[in-house]
Amino acid sequence: MYGLIGVGIKKLVEIELGSSAWDRISQRADFSERDFIKTDCYDDSMIFKLVHEISNELGVSVADVLIKFGHYWVDFAISEGYGNAYKLGGTSFVDFLKNLNKLHMYVASSFPKLQPPHFQVVNDTGEELDLIYRSARSDLEPMVIGLIEALGIKFNKKISITVLSKDAEKTIFKTIYS
Ligand code: HEM
Repeated sequence: MYGLIGVGIKKLVEIELGSSAWDRISQRADFSERDFIKTDCYDDSMIFKLVHEISNELGVSVADVLIKFGHYWVDFAISEGYGNAYKLGGTSFVDFLKNLNKLHMYVASSFPKLQPPHFQVVNDTGEELDLIYRSARSDLEPMVIGLIEALGIKFNKKISITVLSKDAEKTIFKTIYS
């Protein structure tokens, strides 16, 4: 994954736990550089190792760390100058979900090796919808949950999001919004 993700993870740890915690976590994860270059690619396994060590440091599950990171990511991306990418998303919660692929295509213009997630909205009733998530990676569903909850806050929506089904190819989230 691109270092931009790692910079976000490091910032979140520093905000929540302080910079000495980041030093401990990166040491335990054998991440001797301790800093990411936003436009460099890093092995996903390194990012997962760091997330694992953060969960150990906090005494919470890996899923909880990923949810927290999803919450943080939305504002972090704006603070990193990606506010324009959000403008592509449209002005309503559902439109935004429908435009997530467009958003990542725009991001890919700065990050050519991006392996973005793919999202599809189906069965929208105006109160609930199914969000289909496809990824080259596994086990990032809690990050999606955190991200969608954070988008709900941005669009003044109360969100309930749960995994409806998961197979090798896709995960479907039931998303209730009001
Ligand atoms: C302007 C805002 C955003 C930027 C700049 C951005 C950028 C990125 C980048 C750089 C990656 C790493 C992929 C790679 O390195 O191959 C990524 C992954 C991801 N993004 Fe975004 N993103 C943004 C908004 C969002 C939003 C709003 C969602 C909401 C669902 C989202 C969902 C994800 C997920 C789930 C991943 C993990 C990769 C995977 O599932 O395989 N992103 N994004």
